[in-house]
Amino acid sequence: MKKIVIANHKGGVGKTTSSINISAGLTKKGKNVLIIDTDPQSNLTESFGVFDPVKDLYLSFSKGEPLPIINVKKNLSIVPNSLNFSGIELEIAGRMPREIILKELMAGLDKTFDYCIIDCPPSLGLITLNALVAADEVYIPMEAEFLAYRGIDSIVGIINLVKKHFNPGLMIKGVFFTKYNEQRVLTKEIKNQIKGYFGDNLMKTAIRVNVALAEAQSSGKDIFEYDPKSNGAKDYMSLVNEIIKR
Ligand SMILES: Nc1ncnc2c1ncn2[C@@H]1O[C@H](COP(=O)(O)OP(=O)(O)OP(=O)(O)O)[C@@H](O)[C@H]1O
Ligand SMILES: [Mg+2]
Repeated sequence: MKKIVIANHKGGVGKTTSSINISAGLTKKGKNVLIIDTDPQSNLTESFGVFDPVKDLYLSFSKGEPLPIINVKKNLSIVPNSLNFSGIELEIAGRMPREIILKELMAGLDKTFDYCIIDCPPSLGLITLNALVAADEVYIPMEAEFLAYRGIDSIVGIINLVKKHFNPGLMIKGVFFTKYNEQRVLTKEIKNQIKGYFGDNLMKTAIRVNVALAEAQSSGKDIFEYDPKSNGAKDYMSLVNEIIKR
């Protein structure tokens, strides 16, 4: 099982949209996929029509219960989250070791799934740290904005710390633009800066601005079900092809 984290501490850059549609794209390639929602906002969980789950990631972190796995469609399962998880960082702060909780919970899943996609909250706290410790690869979605570029140092810094202290095999496998708009003058400039910073880790596919992506999410569908001809569907399929090849 390949474990992929979708992380960026900046809010609203498309982490959840990407987690959902990368996973859906992988299932279209015949892969069996598990998504873990580590964000207490639970946008991903709710977008699959799961509200107030009886068992959630909170119970696993807090009480050590096995990860609750809900099959939501063919070849796709999720570990749901809920607002209960919002106090978890305080709760585990004094626990030792508090960075490997998710990794230990995920032990034993390897044979069941081909991919595990971990959607992160917009922060670089203990939750994202747990995700990075548990994973093999990180993908960073970002908007082509000046501030997005400035924030990159922080996430790369955390990833390097995780590599040094917990997970030497962790790799940044790709950085990709979301809500991309080639017509904007600033976009080209930002693209060149990011290319200079990340080199070949900057993915060829950029996810264009596409309202169908937002509509799909609010109607509980992935983009391939909602509008397979949309730019969103084309872009996410192209991204998935890159991910499989990397
Ligand atoms: N390519 C796109 N074009 C248009 N809208 C998009 C695109 N990608 C995401 N969105 C919309 O932008 C909003 C934020 O996206 P999303 O929830 O995926 O970001 P996020 O990084 O997970 O946010 P958070 O940090 O709060 O978890 C959502 O309403 C989503 O539908
Ligand atoms: Mg999100």
